[in-house]
Amino acid sequence: MHVELTDKQSEAFRSRSRYLLLDGGMGSGKTWTMVLDAIRHMEEVPGIRILFGRLDYQRLKRSAGADFYQLIPRGRLHRRNDVDNWCEHVNGSQLFWQHLGTPSIESALGAIKGMTLGRAYIDQADECDARIFDALRLRLRQDVTALHKAYLDSHGEPEPVFGYHVPGIWLNANPEGHDWLYERFFKQKDPQYQVVRFSMLDNAANLPQEYIDDAMKLPPALRSRYVFGNRDALTGKVFEQPPLEGFHVIEPFEIPPEWPRWRAIDHGRRDPTCCLWIAQDPEGNHYVYDCLYQAGLIAHNAEEILKRSYGETYEDTLLDPSVFHLTSERAGSYISDADLYEEAGLPVSRADNDMSGIERIGQLMLIDPGRKHPILNKFGSPRLFFFRVLAHELIEEIERLKWKEGAAKQLKRLSAMTRGADHAVDALRYYVNATWDWRRSEHEPEPDYDELFLPRAHDALSYLGA
Ligand SMILES: Nc1ncnc2c1ncn2[C@@H]1O[C@H](COP(=O)(O)OP(=O)(O)OP(=O)(O)O)[C@@H](O)[C@H]1O
Ligand SMILES: [Mg+2]
Repeated sequence: MHVELTDKQSEAFRSRSRYLLLDGGMGSGKTWTMVLDAIRHMEEVPGIRILFGRLDYQRLKRSAGADFYQLIPRGRLHRRNDVDNWCEHVNGSQLFWQHLGTPSIESALGAIKGMTLGRAYIDQADECDARIFDALRLRLRQDVTALHKAYLDSHGEPEPVFGYHVPGIWLNANPEGHDWLYERFFKQKDPQYQVVRFSMLDNAANLPQEYIDDAMKLPPALRSRYVFGNRDALTGKVFEQPPLEGFHVIEPFEIPPEWPRWRAIDHGRRDPTCCLWIAQDPEGNHYVYDCLYQAGLIAHNAEEILKRSYGETYEDTLLDPSVFHLTSERAGSYISDADLYEEAGLPVSRADNDMSGIERIGQLMLIDPGRKHPILNKFGSPRLFFFRVLAHELIEEIERLKWKEGAAKQLKRLSAMTRGADHAVDALRYYVNATWDWRRSEHEPEPDYDELFLPRAHDALSYLGA
């Protein structure tokens, strides 16, 4: 199989550092770089012994293992042992697949202890303990440079432009902030340690466009970390602007009957179900004027929602998209939980799960100095308001929600990316996803030029005596 290296992969190949961290975005080609480098070393350093590890053996086999057996040229393997998890090149080089901590770090350290290696690779080192890396450092006892030199001599090849192969450990990681990899590779200025920073976009030519489009829709802090590989992104809080008393959190008032209203529901099976009631004023301000937050049966929650909705009409009732899967069987046909809401008297629409709704909520909360506050009637206002007491669960969630370390692995579900309850935030996100374009076209209406200029023109004309 012919492989064209990306620029970042070539940069890694040129490295002669003992310890190299391939750090960066998802899908940026890091694992492939290591697999290709392992294959290259097996080929060019006959007799080398290589360890290729990852925390969890099953994952190692499915990711790097599968890539390796796909990429190694046909006929170059002499033996492949899938019971003891190693393989041997026709020239005698060997590669060992090794778990690095599951089921236990002790068993990984025990396995490493007896080895003599020329090179080691750690896939997803962010999952691993620093002790594994330190144990491997002590195992690099093969004279890789001499083996490589002998190989080139026997092939009559000239001295390599980038120097001979050297013993070393390559690691790759998705940036998880300031972890042990950060301490070793970024903070400590040791010339043996080198970092090549990968971005998803470096590998764009080899990725499906939809994958990149999806990733680019992530909230900015997540995008910065997991697409561009920025270790300093992600300060913790999902929402930079907390809801402020008096600014965002306001005294409840009677919503004028002509304002459009929405309901948005995040469905919980074991967790609470949250329904939000939201109205919009003609200036494009959004008011969360009620919030139901309770666990329990759909029928029971629906009854409470209907009770609180008495006498009101809604543009739409947006329901958690995950509830539309057909899950139960009745009289020979399948029904979903959404059907149960309908049966209980709540007509619902499937909400849009777009994660960038989080970013939009954040934007609605920012205080715009050029905007008049609808209640205080002074300049400086957000566009999203919460009725005091009635929306308190939502306010609490917004204040507490934090990004989780390791959020990269779960792009689709907010709960997997965050720490803290997010039921009400999810419901709000469904609402914002459904109404965002409407809001954008309304919130800054075109100035009425006739109204602005004609009276002045009249004044001017009357002054001139016309
Ligand atoms: N040089 C290349 N030529 C062709 N395809 C490539 C190349 N490098 C990577 N790819 C493709 O890009 C995909 C992602 O690469 P890889 O798995 O190495 O990324 P990664 O950085 O390890 O991602 P993750 O952070 O998700 O583990 C691979 O499955 C492969 O299909
Ligand atoms: Mg990988």
